[in-house]
Amino acid sequence: MSFGRRLGEVTANERLGAYVLLSVRDRANRRPEPGQFYMLAAAERWGAGANERPYLPRAFSHARVHDDGTLDFLLEAVGPGTQRLAELQPGEGMWILGPLGIGFRTPTRTPLLVGGGIGAAPLLALHDELPQDTPVLLGFRSAAHAEAAAIFGTDPFLATDDGSVGHSGLVTELLMDRLDGAEVFSCGPPPMLEAVRAICAERDVPAQLALESGMACGFGACFGCVVPTRNGYIRLCVDGPVLEASELETALTPGAGH
Ligand SMILES: Cc1cc2nc3c(=O)[nH]c(=O)nc-3n(C[C@H](O)[C@H](O)[C@H](O)COP(=O)(O)OP(=O)(O)OC[C@H]3O[C@@H](n4cnc5c(N)ncnc54)[C@H](O)[C@@H]3O)c2cc1C
Ligand code: FES
Repeated sequence: MSFGRRLGEVTANERLGAYVLLSVRDRANRRPEPGQFYMLAAAERWGAGANERPYLPRAFSHARVHDDGTLDFLLEAVGPGTQRLAELQPGEGMWILGPLGIGFRTPTRTPLLVGGGIGAAPLLALHDELPQDTPVLLGFRSAAHAEAAAIFGTDPFLATDDGSVGHSGLVTELLMDRLDGAEVFSCGPPPMLEAVRAICAERDVPAQLALESGMACGFGACFGCVVPTRNGYIRLCVDGPVLEASELETALTPGAGH
């Protein structure tokens, strides 16, 4: 169930290599499920200028929820919205709507978490609710991006595109010999998710994929986020963002930011 838009207060802004970890006190103090998301907007200077229309809020998975209702978001500044949010300092206001959508379902087999880049965010929230020795495989572009792995209380297996940390190559190459008896939980860029989907389909391994699509409202009203599944088109914001891989012909969703 979601709640109306409310004003949260930023309590911390920490740089984590190439990313920013932003903490926000949410007075609604909900316990979101891992894989659900929030629509976020800065309370001030959210738009091109004083006389311009404000930006639409942007979608973010929470990376961690604290007992007092504080939410942590891991941001990658890739455009105007994420750049503005990444600037917010303690004491500043942020509009919050959520939690929204359907998150990861309870594992039915041994969970194996596989993330790429900013896709580490919802996997951290999931990892917080699983036994701490649950294996995590993370792929990043470089060592600066891989610094985000430090927020997992465990040591994830790392892969980097440039070979600066961990395995040199794709995170999916770390996946192959760990699939027996596993259920895969994954979030990352569409090509990575599609590779995970295809590998799991071939090996008959169940997988839950947190997908991305361009989202304007976040609650089912605009149809901006529709993605094709084997059962027809769905609105990812209400029927996802986490989908069973078996529902998909492909995880290459239209309109995804990355
Ligand atoms: C359910 C859901 C959860 C999400 N969770 C997170 C999260 O936890 N953290 C997070 O940072 N983002 C997350 N995103 C993505 C985020 O909502 C989008 O990247 C958002 O549109 C960024 O807004 P912007 O105004 O900064 O950039 P936009 O104006 O939307 O995009 C600017 C340009 O950057 C491109 N772009 C987007 N992403 C990348 C990238 N990684 N690298 C290169 N170019 C890129 C876009 O295609 C576009 O051309 C999530 C999205 C969804 C749907
Ligand atoms: S984002 Fe508007 S319907 Fe999904």
